[in-house]
Amino acid sequence: MSLLKRIGGSQSQGETPGTGNAVVASPAAPVLRSGQGDGAPATGSSHTAPGSATGEMSQQRMLELSLWIVDRILSSLSGQQELKRSPEVERQIQEKFTGAYRQSGVNLTDDQTKQLYDMVMDELFGFGPIEPLLRDELVTEVMVNGPRLVYIEQKGKLTLTPVRFANDDHVLKVIDRIIRPLGRRIDRKWPMVDARLPDGSRVNAIIPPCAIDGPSITIRKFSKKKLQVEDLIRFGSMTPEMAEFLRACVVSRLNIIVSGGTGSGKTTLLNVLSNFIPEEERIVTIEDSAELKLAQEHVVRLESKPAELDGTGRVSINDLVINSLRMRPERIVVGECRGGETMAMLQAMNTGHDGSLSTLHANTPRDAIARMETMAMMAGMDIPVNVIREQIAAAVDLIVQQTRLEDGSRKISHITEVQGMEGDVVVLQDIFLLHILGKTPEGKVMSELRPTGTRPRFSSRLEASGFKLPPSIFGATVPGQKRSW
Ligand SMILES: Nc1ncnc2c1ncn2[C@@H]1O[C@H](COP(=O)(O)OP(=O)(O)O)[C@@H](O)[C@H]1O
Ligand SMILES: [Mg+2]
Repeated sequence: MSLLKRIGGSQSQGETPGTGNAVVASPAAPVLRSGQGDGAPATGSSHTAPGSATGEMSQQRMLELSLWIVDRILSSLSGQQELKRSPEVERQIQEKFTGAYRQSGVNLTDDQTKQLYDMVMDELFGFGPIEPLLRDELVTEVMVNGPRLVYIEQKGKLTLTPVRFANDDHVLKVIDRIIRPLGRRIDRKWPMVDARLPDGSRVNAIIPPCAIDGPSITIRKFSKKKLQVEDLIRFGSMTPEMAEFLRACVVSRLNIIVSGGTGSGKTTLLNVLSNFIPEEERIVTIEDSAELKLAQEHVVRLESKPAELDGTGRVSINDLVINSLRMRPERIVVGECRGGETMAMLQAMNTGHDGSLSTLHANTPRDAIARMETMAMMAGMDIPVNVIREQIAAAVDLIVQQTRLEDGSRKISHITEVQGMEGDVVVLQDIFLLHILGKTPEGKVMSELRPTGTRPRFSSRLEASGFKLPPSIFGATVPGQKRSW
């Protein structure tokens, strides 16, 4: 009886193992046991339905078979430690694949054989089961919560996929494959790692004992195509009037903070704002991992660096902000303020480096002020909180709040002026606001972006830079203004 006939009974996609099958990813525990004395694979077969058709082979069985073939290919290629993709290597692998496939005794359709071959190649040269998700341009994030649950983000929405790993060990192998070429490592002693793939995607991996339900991977994919201001207007994330206003603010060298939650579109908006900086100005960008893509030529890009294996050699965002001040910057753009660098950034903004831009994690503009206070305290400079607050009020001119709505859309919910201090309080004045009006039957959030009717106090700075913004930009409801759904 062929392997397929013996294992083809289950139709359920990715059933949990443990129904008589051992696991395949670890050579110590092969799933596909020697069946016919010639090394042909077999599985525990107590539950199989004899005579079932080829088309019924479950994803789980395909995965097991692909890993069995990968093991065979790797053991026959032993000696060639690092497998490098080349036409010659591919030819060898194809040959070995065919041999192993024949030996398995499985009889697949052409489509399934092609699928099996792709799975084997993804295992050998890519990141295994999640490789097709990484290739899919519509997928923006991939999240592996242990071997059985793989989620993706598409159009701002999270969905569970049918993708499965064989077991924890299989996920660990993929993590190893991701981080080893980057010179990083992960183990029980330090069970988490942040890394960046060669294409710019950001990876975090965390494994047991800290990840209780199995090794987890989070990949924020780097989108080659950055959204432009026209895209954000088209999506209804901002109105043309808001875009015009923001351009005037950037060119007029206002210090701007983009605030928002994770994945709310902060970096995207920072990129759009940075692209408003006039071509002739010298820009220094500072990021944990270079995501910004500026159209200007005169840009120096700096990236922080984790510590070496011996724990030394870390270069933080704070170090880079301080260093950048000696680089004659006309603009400093910091990807995200997360800690003590906020103090350096505020001091830079207050000492002539105006026109600086950054993002931070907060849910409202008022929150953003509180966050900045807390983060500036992290610099450990022993400065009283009211002095820090005054520095914030003096340094920051504008807070732009990004929000990810329930339906996955991203919008600017506030454009807020920081007007100064009144007593102990930082005075904020909203210039544009998002109004939520309701929900369509399909679950789309209906909203409208409106000016509040208040002209910012810094209007004269915009005018001094040559921007004569008509009062209608700041006016109350603009007649006939397009709604954003
Ligand atoms: N206004 C927007 N409309 C639609 N998608 C957006 C918008 N802004 C950002 N995105 C997408 O959302 C994802 C997260 O954006 P990003 O700017 O990296 O968020 P953050 O920096 O807040 O974590 C990206 O895939 C990006 O392309
Ligand atoms: Mg970001």
